[in-house]
Amino acid sequence: MTKLDESYWTDRYHSGKIGWDIGYPSTPLKNYIDQLEDKSIRILIPGAGNAYEAEYLHMSGFSNVTVIDISKAPLAQLSAKCPEFGKEYIIHGDFFEHKGQYDLILEQTFFCAITPDLRPGYISKVHELLMAGGKVVGVLFDVELNVDRPPFGGHRAQYLPLFEAAFDLAVFEPCHNSIPPRQGSELFINCVKR
Ligand SMILES: C[S@@+](CC[C@H](N)C(=O)[O-])C[C@H]1O[C@@H](n2cnc3c(N)ncnc32)[C@H](O)[C@@H]1O
Repeated sequence: MTKLDESYWTDRYHSGKIGWDIGYPSTPLKNYIDQLEDKSIRILIPGAGNAYEAEYLHMSGFSNVTVIDISKAPLAQLSAKCPEFGKEYIIHGDFFEHKGQYDLILEQTFFCAITPDLRPGYISKVHELLMAGGKVVGVLFDVELNVDRPPFGGHRAQYLPLFEAAFDLAVFEPCHNSIPPRQGSELFINCVKR
């Protein structure tokens, strides 16, 4: 299998092969963001890519939003689009090596971008980065996809034991407000760190 390293992802951005990039904040995440009242919470978006949700959070007055991506290419776009987004909140690096403490981690098409053998490590890393009571919220594909390259698919029954081991699952159900091309193929998750 191709190594999914920085150069793999940067090549995808430079060649414009970014089929995952919808160009706007996705409806399930946007609706979740819209009902958050405390705009000072510490939010992390791992594998943020072009980070439309981060831009939306910023425009909505959230003051502590961090994005991390292994590729510099989309992060440079975010800085260019949103110059007032603090540089210290735009991190070029590997999520699995990131250190920090957050109240909320937002997930969208990062979990499906890592090889399935890294999923337990994703869950333990998310757990480590969250405060007690912190949440990972977002969408996961609930459908068979590729087995040799991203996006990697999977199903609710496979994900449940991984998340249940460390989180209380407030929501882990079919997503009712996915964007049209993803309707019927996503779960919405809201998992609270135990
Ligand atoms: C499928 S894209 C999704 C981007 C964005 N979440 C979206 O919905 O448009 C996966 C992203 O994860 C990044 N990525 C892959 N492995 C990573 C890692 N170990 N740490 C941080 N970012 C990573 C890639 O560079 C890419 O931007």
